[in-house]
Amino acid sequence: MDLGLKGKKALVCASSRGLGKGCADALAEAGCTVTLNGRDAAVLAELAGALSEKHGVDVNFVAADVSSPEGQQALLDACPSPDILVNNNGGPPRRDYSELDRPAILDGVVQNMVTPIELTKAVLPGMTERGFGRIVNITSMSVRMPIEGLDLSSGARAGLTAFMAGVCRQVAPHGVTINNILPGKFDTDRLKAGFERTASLSGQSLETVRTDAAKEIPAGRFGTPEEFGQTCAFLCSAHAGYITGQNILLDGGLYPAAF
Ligand SMILES: NC(=O)c1ccc[n+]([C@@H]2O[C@H](COP(=O)([O-])OP(=O)(O)OC[C@H]3O[C@@H](n4cnc5c(N)ncnc54)[C@H](OP(=O)(O)O)[C@@H]3O)[C@@H](O)[C@H]2O)c1
Repeated sequence: MDLGLKGKKALVCASSRGLGKGCADALAEAGCTVTLNGRDAAVLAELAGALSEKHGVDVNFVAADVSSPEGQQALLDACPSPDILVNNNGGPPRRDYSELDRPAILDGVVQNMVTPIELTKAVLPGMTERGFGRIVNITSMSVRMPIEGLDLSSGARAGLTAFMAGVCRQVAPHGVTINNILPGKFDTDRLKAGFERTASLSGQSLETVRTDAAKEIPAGRFGTPEEFGQTCAFLCSAHAGYITGQNILLDGGLYPAAF
């Protein structure tokens, strides 16, 4: 399907690996010029070259901490008027709520709530003026369903979700949509780190933890960054202009509810 995105400019935060990379790949496939981000310049340079060659589009990158004001400015300098913004970042480390002190709590809120709000604020005036814009926030299934050790991540992302629920309606008349994708369990480094923690706390092997986790998912497997990216690209597409303020759960059926 032609997503109607040829020549659009996409700024994809935290996209050197995992889900962000899946989004960058799918948007480049759809014909977007893509700006990648992460903190490792060597990894980014290799990925930019690979995506550019694979899809025949321009891909540049910014090696910077997306949570810092300087990092955000560098991203906006590299991609001054994005048509598409994918808000993504690392998540807070898994930790029991009782171990979180004030600096750790603030870090988590800055990472997963303040940063996407700041970037959204920066790009919305241009998007509304041009009459087209797509913002996709990568949040988490944990906004809907508590996950042990991730209360900070869940809280910050739920705050972001509520914030965006108002903003998306304000910009809807201008052809701009804002949606959230809620990953369940996707096969990335982040998921692996969680399994390693569970294995070391429980004394089980990594393979046992992994197999048991996959069995809990009705689909019987983890999601792939590629299928995540394709969903993101569709939400950014010309066809998705009437979808806004939605929370798209991608979880292979893991969240057990009718609604
Ligand atoms: N995978 C899942 O199943 C799952 C489920 C629920 C929620 N999530 C959330 O979805 C997001 C992406 O997860 P993932 O699984 O794709 O993680 P991942 O595989 O660990 O990839 C994280 C990406 O973010 C980049 N990054 C991390 N911190 C950054 C920073 N401060 N500035 C710029 N880039 C940064 C990393 O690159 P560098 O390290 O080189 O900077 C990497 O490209 C996370 O917030 C995660 O909590 C994931």
